Amino acid sequence: MTVCEAPGKVYLFGEHAVVYGEPAVPAAIERRATVTAEPRSDDHVRVEAEDLSLDGFTVEYSGGTGNRPDVDVPTPLVEAAMGYVDAAVREARAAADAPDAGFDITVESEIPLGAGLGSSAAVVVAGIDAATRALGVQLDRRELADRAYRAEFEVQDGQASRADTFCSTMGGAVRVEGDDCEPIEAPNLPFVVGFDGGAGDTGELVAGVGELREEYGFAADTVESIGDIVRTGEELLSDSAPGADPQRELLAELGELMDFNHGLLSALGVSARSLDSMVWAARDAGAHGAKLTGAGGGGCIVALDASDATETALSFTQGCDEAFRAELATEGVRVVE
Ligand code: PMV
Repeated sequence: MTVCEAPGKVYLFGEHAVVYGEPAVPAAIERRATVTAEPRSDDHVRVEAEDLSLDGFTVEYSGGTGNRPDVDVPTPLVEAAMGYVDAAVREARAAADAPDAGFDITVESEIPLGAGLGSSAAVVVAGIDAATRALGVQLDRRELADRAYRAEFEVQDGQASRADTFCSTMGGAVRVEGDDCEPIEAPNLPFVVGFDGGAGDTGELVAGVGELREEYGFAADTVESIGDIVRTGEELLSDSAPGADPQRELLAELGELMDFNHGLLSALGVSARSLDSMVWAARDAGAHGAKLTGAGGGGCIVALDASDATETALSFTQGCDEAFRAELATEGVRVVE
């Protein structure tokens, strides 16, 4: 039995603009998806998704992936687990040159779903790593990230950037620009996440920004300005001491850039009342800065704050379903057992 766990992420800067070739900086957070893979003697795949609201749900099917039965799945976690695990198994079989390998797979996750925190990427990364290792094959991280990207790309009908899967594989902060992905140095950033309990429609939100960009030159300029914020943020990070607790001054400067980034995302129409309320509650509580993370429209915000004040304030904010601290996950995917 092999157990791997992979982190979710927040966007420190750059979502949406990254679709138009600007750089983005996602950062991994200490909230993980855990996947257990046990090879079987036949070619069946049995997927069990643990969910807090359920005793668990299991689907078993035989042969190649794509044979997954069309069953009513009870929750989004289970739905996500079935589709993403199916794609992860396909990549693991290809990587290990074992087209008929069967597995018993269990998925658990502490990452809110579809809310801008990279939950599906974490399941895919941990799934491919666990399944290949269970077959005695250890992929290098670049190949793992690449296969995880392909799996997400397939499940999401071509709507996936490399950001989530690369960040979840590598951990820490990373820089993504088109197909070019690199880890970057970062101090121990103290994140606080606020979750409104919902999720935006990524496809619709991305299309909305595209239309604005076509219609207005200043919307295209706004996208470019987000790219400038990312570049400024990267410079700040590269001047800081990696792995150390960040200086107050650095947090203040990064926070100011996050506020700016949120304002521009808002101008591009991808914020929401709940996200704005949480962003303002975090700022009022003394956070250095706050912004939505991911596609927007609903889901999560990320604030920068080393004290407990923001988490407490968010938990009393109307529209906030859950608030939690989330340290930077310096380690990406890892083997637990
Ligand atoms: O909501 P997430 O974490 O999947 O992020 C979407 C980020 C976008 O830039 C809006 C789209 C993309 O594929 O990069």
